[in-house]
Amino acid sequence: MNGPAPAAPGAFISSLESCFALPLNEITSIVRSFHEEMDRGLSGQSSSLKMLPSFVDVPRGTEKGSFLALDLGGTNVRVLAVELDGRRNATVPAVSTFAVPPGDMEGTGAALFDFIARCIDSFLTEHTIDRNNLYDLAFTFSFPVAQKDIASGALIAWTKGFTARGVQGEDVAGLLRTALKRNSISCINVTALTNDTVGTLAAGSYLDPACDMGVILGTGTNGCYREKSSNIKILNGYVSDEYMIVNLEWGNFATLKRTGYDMHLDEASVNEGSMFLEKMVSGMYLGEMTRLVLIDMIQRELIFLNDPDATEHFSTKNSLKTEHMSLIQGDQTTELSKTDRYLKSMGVTSSTLPDRLLLSHLCGIVSSRAAAISAAVVSAVLTWLDPALEERHTVAVDGALFEGYAGFEAAMTETFTLLHGNNADNIKLMKCKDGSGRGAAIVAAVTASKQ
Ligand code: BGC
Repeated sequence: MNGPAPAAPGAFISSLESCFALPLNEITSIVRSFHEEMDRGLSGQSSSLKMLPSFVDVPRGTEKGSFLALDLGGTNVRVLAVELDGRRNATVPAVSTFAVPPGDMEGTGAALFDFIARCIDSFLTEHTIDRNNLYDLAFTFSFPVAQKDIASGALIAWTKGFTARGVQGEDVAGLLRTALKRNSISCINVTALTNDTVGTLAAGSYLDPACDMGVILGTGTNGCYREKSSNIKILNGYVSDEYMIVNLEWGNFATLKRTGYDMHLDEASVNEGSMFLEKMVSGMYLGEMTRLVLIDMIQRELIFLNDPDATEHFSTKNSLKTEHMSLIQGDQTTELSKTDRYLKSMGVTSSTLPDRLLLSHLCGIVSSRAAAISAAVVSAVLTWLDPALEERHTVAVDGALFEGYAGFEAAMTETFTLLHGNNADNIKLMKCKDGSGRGAAIVAAVTASKQ
């Protein structure tokens, strides 16, 4: 593999550190090229940032009513009932979560949408919801979609390991309506289609009017923000609202320094050649990235020397999960006994303390780069809106990586400070748990209020 070459762990690690490091000048250049790509994307030129119009603006906070939301994220489908009280409170009286069977991610689109329809069916039954009424449902579909209005949009390309056939290029809200019909569910009216980032921004701004950005740091990653409609040249003046939320699809941002490990991970993925940023940042890939470096270290005889079978223990793709990295990095015990327990569960029964420290350091190197890139792109969007960061900006963030990864938020904050000094205080990251689902209902409410 095309990683660093030296033999002693110390020399290897410092070489690895410099491959993964993002010094200030590189972060600044990420911000600069991100702005260029935003500009190109908004004006319809070829760009790694799709800059997709969402056909909705942030809520006023006064929207009221009961709505259903369906959230197809990465690994789960969630169905929620959401109540908006018109005074900035969005509560969730009912929710059901279902794991997407891997076979349905990779089978036919009809099978995937039938599964989703059955999730709605189970939700209605579980929460004894009266099927004689008609319910507005907002569909959060967390993949890149080209929309021409709020209630429909065609899938541009699958991400996050999904490959279901017959969906790319199709209207996903339409596929859902057809699947509901096929499954005899007639009490649902699909009124809005949103990306999860858009839902998160809607949820964040319903709560806090200073919120002007939505971010997902979970299985995948992405961001959205409020743009002046007149700057979205691809709309051709089609929309009269002054502002619209734009989904950046930043997971596909490509102007980044990649290591041999990044290239290897990309080559082995189902969407080779795209989503470079997502593959360096998101929860679906960080564990795999760490596994690739670890295998390299084992083969160079830098770690787990007491275990002749160490390579085999980590030979399965995706066997090292991002949750494991978080557990390892968060292990505060003197002997790193939690890490030892994890290693034993993987078959490494005789690790030494230096092995465990080395592994923890490796997780830190991989996750720090992810946090620095995440902070760089959040900064890029905020400085697009407010170049000197003179005003306060709330950034609503949803996703298990941000919420659960030990030290991730703190590492992002370090990068903000590096970039903006004291003005970094103007960036407030707000955890927005279930934001994408709650926010979808808010989008449905905004849509309903306009009809
Ligand atoms: C998708 C985005 C989504 C993000 C977070 C990415 O893979 O392309 O649309 O917002 O994951 O779920």
